[in-house]
Amino acid sequence: MAYYYLEPSRTFSEFLLLPNLTKKDCTPANVSLKTPIVKFKRGEKPAVSLNIPFASAVMQSVSDHNMAVALARCGGISFIFGSQPVEEQAAMVRKAKSYKAGFVVSRSNLTPAHTLKDVLNLKDETGHSTVAITDDGTPKGKLLGIVTSRDYRVSRDSLDKPVQQFMTPFASLVYGKSGISLSEANDLIWEHKLNCLPIVDERQNLEFLVFRKDYDAHKENPQELLDMNKSYIVGAGINTKDYEERVPALVAAGVDVLVIDSSDGFSEWQHETLQYVKSNFDVKIGAGNVVDREGFQYLVGAGADFIKVGVGGGSICITREQKGIGRGQASALIEVAEARNQYYEETGIYIPICSDGGIVHDYHITLALAMGADFVMMGRYFARFDESPTRKLKVGNNFVKEFWGEGSNRARNWQRYDTGGKQDLVFEEGVDSYVPYAGSLQENLDKTNSKIKSTMCNCGAKTIEELQHKARITIVSATSIVEGGAHDVILKENNMSAE
Ligand code: IMP
Repeated sequence: MAYYYLEPSRTFSEFLLLPNLTKKDCTPANVSLKTPIVKFKRGEKPAVSLNIPFASAVMQSVSDHNMAVALARCGGISFIFGSQPVEEQAAMVRKAKSYKAGFVVSRSNLTPAHTLKDVLNLKDETGHSTVAITDDGTPKGKLLGIVTSRDYRVSRDSLDKPVQQFMTPFASLVYGKSGISLSEANDLIWEHKLNCLPIVDERQNLEFLVFRKDYDAHKENPQELLDMNKSYIVGAGINTKDYEERVPALVAAGVDVLVIDSSDGFSEWQHETLQYVKSNFDVKIGAGNVVDREGFQYLVGAGADFIKVGVGGGSICITREQKGIGRGQASALIEVAEARNQYYEETGIYIPICSDGGIVHDYHITLALAMGADFVMMGRYFARFDESPTRKLKVGNNFVKEFWGEGSNRARNWQRYDTGGKQDLVFEEGVDSYVPYAGSLQENLDKTNSKIKSTMCNCGAKTIEELQHKARITIVSATSIVEGGAHDVILKENNMSAE
């Protein structure tokens, strides 16, 4: 007879944290979000920790080398997507590992059809006086020119003057080529008395800007995640089919942490993959996804350095409606965390857990950490930012970014859903979608981190470990969920005014 779980399977939105006593020294400035990502023995330090508990998802529409650099700079890790040829993925890892601070993704971008008024508005909004002019107005579009305050005179020029007429065109720009080192870039800056040097690839697409100012990157990015050689820590996703070819190439490219990317990790294929990696390489590797104690124990037994939790909760995921398989993310996490804690007590080995998918609000991250996750993996969250690899488009009056699931026809990542040798997707487990464009990664992460730290202070916790020990978590009733948002008031809209 089938086994029944009679407790409903729950999601994050059904829980809230209760405040604990907050001591006077428990302020957001004193909170550390440092967290382990690979297993370690009691009393020892993990070989790799994150400075903020975030990983970007193993997805084509989320994690490439640019996202890897941007997120590592803020203290988290990206797992560069594996649903691409081995050499291309290894090249992305190499690019991220060889990247040196000082190269920034352009934050202020317009097209030649914009006007002086748009330039001034953008300057007001961002505070940046250098605007990159690209064919599509994105930070990675084809570079057509640069506008700085030396290119226009507000007192004389018409506000409707098109950028095309006053930008410094590409043909007159000094630029660096993809792969240039920071010291070479600085030499060009000094030699030509520039304030800013654009770096472009072989197709004239903008990659980065390097600014003249004395660049002390570590001071600007105190949280950045570096290895012993001062390169960023980089992760990559693998599958259970071509690992004998993929893993050596990724290791040679310098990858720090691997993860087996699968919608269902409780399989003998994952066991084999883990054993192969562990017996041939000295590289850290996580496995998953699982949703219960048995899955956790199986993959830990096979040698996994961390375990990823979650089936069916991702924003683009339709696994549950297509196949009827999965578990509410909170229920899955709570059970796996219990198994992990028991394993730690029995063996003295701590296995970090990653809660993967289903984060909708920032407070869900804090709940996941409180429930025992050491870090969270997110797709939708990161897809919204400038640094994600997809196009920014205007739909109606809103800017959006493209975002598609690995199980969609667009990604065709059949290895992720493999159930034994099939070479193509028979049906989709993910959708192709848009997400609202939200600006730069760093600004959004800063806000999210402030919220997490503030909630941790409410719970009287200065570290994630302390939060996990002290958290008091309540289930909320369907009725009280209504009370959680603004209610019983008339919200003011912009065009409303009282007489
Ligand atoms: P999100 O943060 O809610 O967008 O979820 C991201 C997670 O969804 C990823 O880390 C994957 O575990 C999962 N995922 C990615 N692509 C698909 C898909 O096509 N179908 C189902 N799940 C997916």
